[in-house]
Amino acid sequence: MLRLEDIDVSYDGKRLALDNVNLTVQQGEFIGIIGSSGSGKSTLLKSINLLVRPSKGKVYLDDIDITRLNNRELRDIRKNIGFVFQDYNLIERSTVLDNVLIGRLGYKSSFKSILGIFNEDDYERAATALSQVGLSEKIFERAGQLSGGQKQRVAIAKTLCQRPKIILADEPVASLDVSTSQNIMDYFKKVNEKKDMTIMINLHDVNLAKRYCNRIIALKHGKILFDGKAGDLSDEKLKAIYD
Ligand SMILES: Nc1ncnc2c1ncn2[C@@H]1O[C@H](COP(=O)(O)OP(=O)(O)OP(=O)(O)O)[C@@H](O)[C@H]1O
Ligand SMILES: [Mg+2]
Repeated sequence: MLRLEDIDVSYDGKRLALDNVNLTVQQGEFIGIIGSSGSGKSTLLKSINLLVRPSKGKVYLDDIDITRLNNRELRDIRKNIGFVFQDYNLIERSTVLDNVLIGRLGYKSSFKSILGIFNEDDYERAATALSQVGLSEKIFERAGQLSGGQKQRVAIAKTLCQRPKIILADEPVASLDVSTSQNIMDYFKKVNEKKDMTIMINLHDVNLAKRYCNRIIALKHGKILFDGKAGDLSDEKLKAIYD
């Protein structure tokens, strides 16, 4: 379970990018986060794994307040939280396999990480993750040669390889066409259902959010304006969210 309690985030010490956000997420939920540009969607995701430090409030992961952890403890906890970026965040000259293996680094000593030492188990997990996103045949290709949708599937495989409890994805389909976006969302849905992973996705496409996510959270000026079932998101509420 994930719980955000009274979270404020301010980048400049004056304006609040998140304003008293309270949120409880049960394991296995599939949540879409919507809201207009600048409403705080990215800040919300980043505050969950403390890529951005809240100026106030607490973040609980399975009842541990992770804002109190030291760096080493935080590094351990972060294994449980995968992050998927809009721009894929891959090493383009490296192979698909090597990119996915990076997902295992959190489990290595820093010595082994630096040398890139992986064992058979790591390779097996990487191959399994790639087959889960339908990319087994691309395993030895360079990441830079893939299409946008394929790159995003590699990024998902990399995160799966990390075996997280929660996947946070910041606009993972924003630069993809409609059918590729649906394809990627189908993979997220599959992972959510088969692996009981919690998934929280920032989406600017409300229809995509309504179609795939069981729960939708809408932000406006850093505050939660709506938190509920996709079916309860009326046109009137949408108007207020995007006004
Ligand atoms: N690194 C930063 N430094 C200063 N201010 C920032 C930084 N990142 C975000 N902000 C500000 O915080 C607020 C929330 O930004 P955030 O990026 O979370 O919004 P968003 O909903 O993800 O927007 P978008 O849809 O454009 O990605 C905005 O006012 C933004 O200008
Ligand atoms: Mg954003």
